[in-house]
Amino acid sequence: MTLTPNFRLGPSPLALAIFEASLKRCEARPDFLDVFYENFLASSPEVAEKFAGTDFARQKEALRASFHHLLLVARNPKQGPDPYLGEIAVRHGAGHLAIGAHLYDLWLDSLLETVRACDPESSQEVETAWEEVMMVGIHYLCTNYEGRHGR
Ligand code: HEM
Repeated sequence: MTLTPNFRLGPSPLALAIFEASLKRCEARPDFLDVFYENFLASSPEVAEKFAGTDFARQKEALRASFHHLLLVARNPKQGPDPYLGEIAVRHGAGHLAIGAHLYDLWLDSLLETVRACDPESSQEVETAWEEVMMVGIHYLCTNYEGRHGR
């Protein structure tokens, strides 16, 4: 069984189902997002610096919502990203948080490390499903780094 990434069509229905089930198992761990931010902040001093003034209770809720939102966006690739993702892109872009592409590599690596630790059924297939769904968001945020037309 292969889960080939395809940005035009988005993740396959199988990958979406695998991701959703894994997300549920991860969220059953109350410290899931604590583990993620612990991994992510330890991945580079540059990351820790970006989050120097952050309210992590609020941030964890925002990221939790993003995971569910990315699942919806990945499920409806023809509809394209919506204003919610647009706002996140502006916030992460050149004029604001200035999150460069190299930081998304660290973000994804930290997330996959977290899934391995928190999902008791984690496997290569589960990791690939997370990667495919998250790439929908990462691809969008990176390609809109300099701002979008009309903004
Ligand atoms: C697909 C990947 C990502 C998603 C879905 C995501 C999502 C979010 C969301 C929903 C917020 C909250 C926006 C708000 O204030 O309402 C946020 C804030 C933030 N994100 Fe990301 N993010 C991603 C990647 C990254 C990366 C790679 C970095 C690199 C350091 C980063 C750094 C930050 C920072 C510094 C904030 C602001 C924290 C604060 O308010 O103090 N994000 N992100």
